[in-house]
Amino acid sequence: MPKKKNGGFPVLELTDVWKTYEMGEEKIHALREFNLQIAQNDYMSIVGPSGSGKSTLLHMLGLLDVPTQGKVHMDGKNVSHMSTDDRAILRGKKIGFVFQVFNLVPSLTALENVALPMMIQGIDRSEREEKAAKILSDLGMGDRLDHLPGELSGGQRQRVAMSRALVNDPELILADEPTGNLDSKTGEEVVKLFDKLHKEGRTIVVVTHDNGIAKHADEQVYIVDGMIQNWTGKSHPEYTRKIKKNNV
Ligand SMILES: Nc1ncnc2c1ncn2[C@@H]1O[C@H](COP(=O)(O)OP(=O)(O)OP(=O)(O)O)[C@@H](O)[C@H]1O
Ligand SMILES: [Mg+2]
Repeated sequence: MPKKKNGGFPVLELTDVWKTYEMGEEKIHALREFNLQIAQNDYMSIVGPSGSGKSTLLHMLGLLDVPTQGKVHMDGKNVSHMSTDDRAILRGKKIGFVFQVFNLVPSLTALENVALPMMIQGIDRSEREEKAAKILSDLGMGDRLDHLPGELSGGQRQRVAMSRALVNDPELILADEPTGNLDSKTGEEVVKLFDKLHKEGRTIVVVTHDNGIAKHADEQVYIVDGMIQNWTGKSHPEYTRKIKKNNV
């Protein structure tokens, strides 16, 4: 287990978080009074039916969105009221995000898409390209470096998105359906990669419909209708008490 770098605070903590979308007269509560703690080196899967709030939750954990009500703490610091720019800086330093929709830049090649976050971090070109090529090759994409996203299959695009999320060596990896478009063999490679990253001390939260991947994680959080319905965890049995609050 790596040394705690953040003073022992949970890496992420959601306290009584609500996310409400207003659609005309109607209010949609994507998250309801949601409480969750993620500790350093946790490996957590989030499962639940379509529309239950999984992506909304992951966006909250990835500082892409802020709650309508409630608080989000990262390393003990309240980030709920931080500006979009400040959240982006924090995210760039710490978080690798694999989106459910890939968000690749259509005019850039696979290699350039993966190298992009390193450019923002000010890493020089040869190092960027070397690192991007290495991680793409590790995911079986070594012969597709110069392809544009439109010239790749869905599963290949997913691997580019995955490479881009991991290339900055983030402490925290958040992935939304990372194997959704992959065949079972490539899916297994992704699972192996997560295992490796977890063993190296990283914190991983993965949204998935794949039972195999969900079971692979140490913690499984099952969400229904914006609330935690069940939380099982090998390493943090004390957490299961806290979820009772969510079972309204
Ligand atoms: N920008 C938005 N405006 C209004 N409603 C939204 C918005 N984003 C999400 N929702 C609603 O919030 C609820 C939760 O959506 P979310 O995307 O988190 O679900 P999910 O669990 O990720 O589903 P899936 O498994 O299909 O990806 C859904 O009912 C959805 O329609
Ligand atoms: Mg989703």
